[in-house]
Amino acid sequence: MNTSTMAAEVVRVDLGPRSYDIVIGDGELAHIAKHLGPHLARPRVALISDETVAGLYLDRVGQALDAAGISRADFIVPPGEASKSFPELERLVDGLLAAGIERDDTIIALGGGVIGDLAGFAASILRRGARFIQLPTTLLAQVDSAVGGKTGINSRHGKNLIGSFHQPRLVLIDTSTLETLDRRQLRAGYAEIVKYAAMTDAAFFAWLEAHGAALLAGDAPARRHAIARCCRIKADIVARDEREAGERALLNLGHTFAHAIEAAAAKGGDVIHGEAVAVGLRLAFALSARLGMCPDEDVRRVERHLAACGLPTRLADLAGDFAPATLIAAMEQDKKRQAGAPVFVLARGIGRAVLSRDVGLSDVAAVLTDGP
Ligand SMILES: NC(=O)c1ccc[n+]([C@@H]2O[C@H](COP(=O)([O-])OP(=O)(O)OC[C@H]3O[C@@H](n4cnc5c(N)ncnc54)[C@H](O)[C@@H]3O)[C@@H](O)[C@H]2O)c1
Ligand SMILES: [Zn+2]
Repeated sequence: MNTSTMAAEVVRVDLGPRSYDIVIGDGELAHIAKHLGPHLARPRVALISDETVAGLYLDRVGQALDAAGISRADFIVPPGEASKSFPELERLVDGLLAAGIERDDTIIALGGGVIGDLAGFAASILRRGARFIQLPTTLLAQVDSAVGGKTGINSRHGKNLIGSFHQPRLVLIDTSTLETLDRRQLRAGYAEIVKYAAMTDAAFFAWLEAHGAALLAGDAPARRHAIARCCRIKADIVARDEREAGERALLNLGHTFAHAIEAAAAKGGDVIHGEAVAVGLRLAFALSARLGMCPDEDVRRVERHLAACGLPTRLADLAGDFAPATLIAAMEQDKKRQAGAPVFVLARGIGRAVLSRDVGLSDVAAVLTDGP
């Protein structure tokens, strides 16, 4: 199949006056001007990216904008999580103001979740809220962070503690950008895809078992199908629960464990988010099975598929100190930062995640010992 001639796929996020489209296609950045057209109040944009992504894609985007007569100011930040900080935010917002960017101009994020979160937050506070568009370039950003309107930066008290809800006007996903993403980042994004399937869509999980390897090897139709499916799932949940009063928390399947793993890894380990999510998914299923909610076979299936895709599934697969006591302490820290009763996401089986407010730490500790 010649994917470059396939029409782009559109997933609508239904949020009343803040509704928007997620457009998914292979090579779509070259057509960015056509997609932007309806969303610009005037032909001027601020483009925010990181050094790595700018080196790869800024020319392509810039040429397409130039050709359409859309003027732009570029803001390039260093790559990496450290850019989600007050100093970078201040530099960025100052730069946007110095360049005369106004509320009717459009702020565009070109990059992974770091750029989307930082640029989105800057857009939400610039002149009390400017137009915002996402061009996600990592698999994680394409299936998760670019959709749903959460923006923000990190604090010394924890990740993502400063931010806002600011929905984009458009999410334009060019799946061909994944060709330059390194394998480790690609697999980490894939862990979030498995999360969606394990959370709410058993048929999609079975599809991933059959097509996940092809997707990771670069099969464009498979990539696009999976990205569209994840965006559909997230869009539907966000439409029902934009501000995470309830159901949206299901998207955190595996993440209570993942956040504890990341906190422990920060003290001398080498784990990226999606790897922590992969281990967290197996642990969430193992905990559900221990509580008698989930068949053991589903735990094994989740683990088998993640491992087949080259993802870690056991704490022992990760580089760092992940003693149960260390992880429990990190979870308790995390709890203290949350308002109200902490919520665990459990599963009654593949595709059947549920929220639970009463999970005993002794059961959590038991699965952290990493038994079979
Ligand atoms: N807002 C949300 O709802 C939400 C959801 C999940 C995660 N997040 C946030 O997303 C962030 C993680 O996002 P991420 O994993 O995309 O990390 P990232 O933005 O740091 O990107 C990972 C690395 O890949 C590079 N890169 C990006 N696109 C590339 C490409 N096409 N080719 C080659 N290299 C490329 C980047 O320069 C970076 O070094 C975290 O800060 C997390 O908190 C936000
Ligand atoms: Zn995640």
